[in-house]
This record gives sequence, structure tokens and C-alpha cells, in this order.
Amino acid sequence: MAGTVTGPSSFGPKRLHSLPAVEKQGGDAMSVTEVELGDDHADITRHDTFVTGVPYATFDRLRREEPVSWWDEDGSRGFWALTRYRDVIAAERQPEVFSSAKGIRLEDMDEEETEARRTLMEMDPPGHTRYRRLVSRVFTRKAVLAYEDAIRTLARQVVDEVHGTPLVDFTDLVARRLPMRMLGRLLDLPPDDYDWLVTRGDALIANSDPDFTDYVVDQVDTSAYRLLPFRSPVAVELIGYGREAFEARRRHPSEDVLTALLAPMPNGEHLSEAELGNFFCLLVAAGNDTTRYSMAASMKALVERPALLSALAEEPGRLDVAVDEMLRWTSVTMHFRRTAAQDTELGGKQIRAGDKVVLWFVAANYDPEQFPDPYHFDAERRPNDHVTFGLKTPHLCLGAHLARMELRVLFEELLPRIDSAAFAGPTERLRSNFIAGIKHLPLEISWK
Ligand code: HEM
Repeated sequence: MAGTVTGPSSFGPKRLHSLPAVEKQGGDAMSVTEVELGDDHADITRHDTFVTGVPYATFDRLRREEPVSWWDEDGSRGFWALTRYRDVIAAERQPEVFSSAKGIRLEDMDEEETEARRTLMEMDPPGHTRYRRLVSRVFTRKAVLAYEDAIRTLARQVVDEVHGTPLVDFTDLVARRLPMRMLGRLLDLPPDDYDWLVTRGDALIANSDPDFTDYVVDQVDTSAYRLLPFRSPVAVELIGYGREAFEARRRHPSEDVLTALLAPMPNGEHLSEAELGNFFCLLVAAGNDTTRYSMAASMKALVERPALLSALAEEPGRLDVAVDEMLRWTSVTMHFRRTAAQDTELGGKQIRAGDKVVLWFVAANYDPEQFPDPYHFDAERRPNDHVTFGLKTPHLCLGAHLARMELRVLFEELLPRIDSAAFAGPTERLRSNFIAGIKHLPLEISWK
């Protein structure tokens, strides 16, 4: 065991705890919403824990009682959990101490696996900086703004497709459709392939949920696929598809992201075939369901706050600021992992070289030291320096501008067409302690 060890069992018996949050707009209490904070002694190492919701109460307690805490894992090495905003930021900003090179998810990988599956996410500066420079130019705010009209057209199409339907699974019919169409447009891929790409992306990133893959990482033996992205044979299909797409761009360069990836890096080197394949998988996985689940969870927050839904429909200009609150609130990628490259101290704990350190973004985003009244959804929250995409870190989400724009444009197009919306059944959540996902969001919508 590492450091001054304290395991989850040392916190005593389970208690249930939830906090009522009052919806405040313009200072008035308009309606009361329950924010389910869940179990305050939940086991955050288990995917099953998150099926019933994010255990915010557990993160609150950890942040208060032991902000840097040690967790044992079944069949694995265990990890340090960072739950305080300032510690998450500190770890993010010191890649020389908290390295990404040994993996960024909880899964332990040996050297061969890490090498085979490496993308820019599993790199540290300076190698990361070179790679990132090559791909970042197509994701800058300016580059992404050039796609706004195209994205708006796609958003309008998706809204048109559901408009008039009274019962809508919002995740399925809106949030799932849009991001792949948007990403497909950026990658210049044929629209007929989008559905296939979405199912393959899901199988990769939701590899802990049996609804999305037959190769559930902690339930079946996936050792045969250990050298593949996300430890899944589905990656072979995606890499093969990506290879063909890159080949086509070599023959006929276009203005798309894939063509940009074929250009030389500042040092004259090109990305290898393996790097291109892994990066293609990363884009399809990371560019799809993160945005989908942000859209679904944001819609849920608006349905819970009908006055806010109407206000944003009337004043869509407010969405620019509100989108950042949606991102903080939803915190879809709940954590990313680092590995200590040297002995160090954080939050009074001795962390040893080689220890896994997990940055719980979802906990940092609700740290009252940084976000006053964190369980209040404040559409006007400013400043709102959430860590949903990382913050001032070398690994800041490459798709951040794109994801922000997708959310803004979707709600700009959708909300003015909704008269009212209510829940038409229970929401269902992804089995994952990595991605906070609402798989099904049944809504009854009265359309304008
Ligand atoms: C709301 C949606 C999204 C969320 C919450 C999200 C979250 C994140 C986070 C937290 C990181 C940092 C990982 C780390 O620190 O190790 C990251 C990195 C990344 N994201 Fe996103 N992401 C979203 C959308 C997208 C989209 C739309 C794309 C691409 C089209 C994308 C592509 C990437 C890539 C390539 C990286 C790696 C960057 C690097 O390591 O330098 N993401 N994302």
C-alpha cells in the first residue's frame, strides 16, 4: 500500500445523504429541485456505483475529510484520488511530476500495451507538444467557428427530425445523432457511415457497459485485445476504416482534419500508421459520446428548471455563458489518471514514484472553495473556471471549442421550438466510473 494509507472502508458505515437545491433566477426562489447527492460512502472504484448516479456526497466527504485519499482496487494497484479543485489543478499543471505517459485511465497497462495504444493523450511534453501542434490547428476557436453554419444546419436537421414527436428519448433521437454528424462533417466522412461509426465509438469508450459491448472490461477476459485501443477488438474495425480514409486523403487531399494529420510535424516527422490509427479511434470515441452525454445531461437540467428553459429560449444570447455551467454541471469525463514520475507530496500525503493518481474532475467541479453554492445550477455563473476540459494544462481537451459550440448551437436551435418538456420515464445511466452518461432520457415534449 502506498503513502499514509486510508482505504474506503475506514470511513465507517454507509449513510445516505441528499441536498435540496433551490432554483434561483434573478435572486428569486422559483422552484425546488432535488440534486441527488447519493451515497456518501460509495465505492468509487466500481463501475456499478455510478449506475444510480454520481456519488457527489462521497466526493464532498472526501474533499472535506481526506482530499487526497488512497483507494484499493480489485485486481489492480490502487490509486490516489484527488477531489479538491486546487489539487487537481496542481497535478494537471506539473506533467513532469504527474505523467500521462503510463496511461490516462484507471486500467493498468504494461509497457508493451502502453506503447501499442499510445495517442497524444498518453504523452508528456516535449513529445506531446510536437504532436499536439500538428493536430491543434484544426481545432482552434477560429478554425471551429468556420464550421458554425454547417453545424447549425445539422442541428436544425436533427431538431426537424424530432419536431412534433410527443415522446422522445432525447439521448437517442437528439444527443446521439448530432455529435457524430458534426464530427463526420469535420472529418469529411460519408454520412451513410455515421451510424456504424457511432456504435463502434460507443463499444470503445463505454467498454464497461454491456449495453454497448460484448467485451466488458471487468467482466470478460479481454487479455487477447490488450494491445488494442480500449482493449477492444472493435478497434481493429475502426483502425481499418481510418486507414482507408487516410489513404483516400493521400490521393485526394481535402480541407478536413484527416488531411491535416498527414502533414509533417515541425520537426519534419510524420505520424506513423499506428499513431494515425490510434488517433482516429480516439477522435471517434472522444468526439462522440462526451458531447452526447453533455447534451443529454444539460437537457435534463433544463427540464428540471422550466423557467430557465423558457428564459434561454427567449434570450438565446445567454447560452454563451450558460453552456459553461452546463459543462461544469455535467462533468462528463469524471476523471483522468496520471502516474507519479517521482516521489512527491500532495495534500499532506506522501505519493511515491509509480503510484497512480486520479484527478476527479467531477469532484473538483463541485468544490465550494472554487464554486460558491456548487449544487445550484447558475446559468450566469462567472467566473466559471471548470475543469471539465482540463484547465491550462498541456492536455486541455482538443475538442473544447467544438464541444462548446455544438452545445450552444443545439440549444439555440432546439429551445425556441419547445413549449414545455417533462420527464416521461426514468433516466438510465451508463455503467462507468469514467464517463457520466445518461443512456436514456425519455421526455414528453410539447412543441411550438
Ligand atoms: C463535452 C465534451 C467533451 C469533454 C467533457 C471532453 C473532455 C476532455 C478532457 C477532460 C480531456 C483532457 C484529458 C487529460 O487531461 O488527460 C480531453 C482531451 C481530449 N479531447 Fe476532449 N472532451 C470533449 C469533447 C471532445 C471532442 C468533441 C473532441 C474531438 C472532436 C475531443 C478530443 C479530445 C482529444 C484529442 C484530447 C486529447 C488532448 C491531449 O491529450 O492533448 N474531445 N477531453
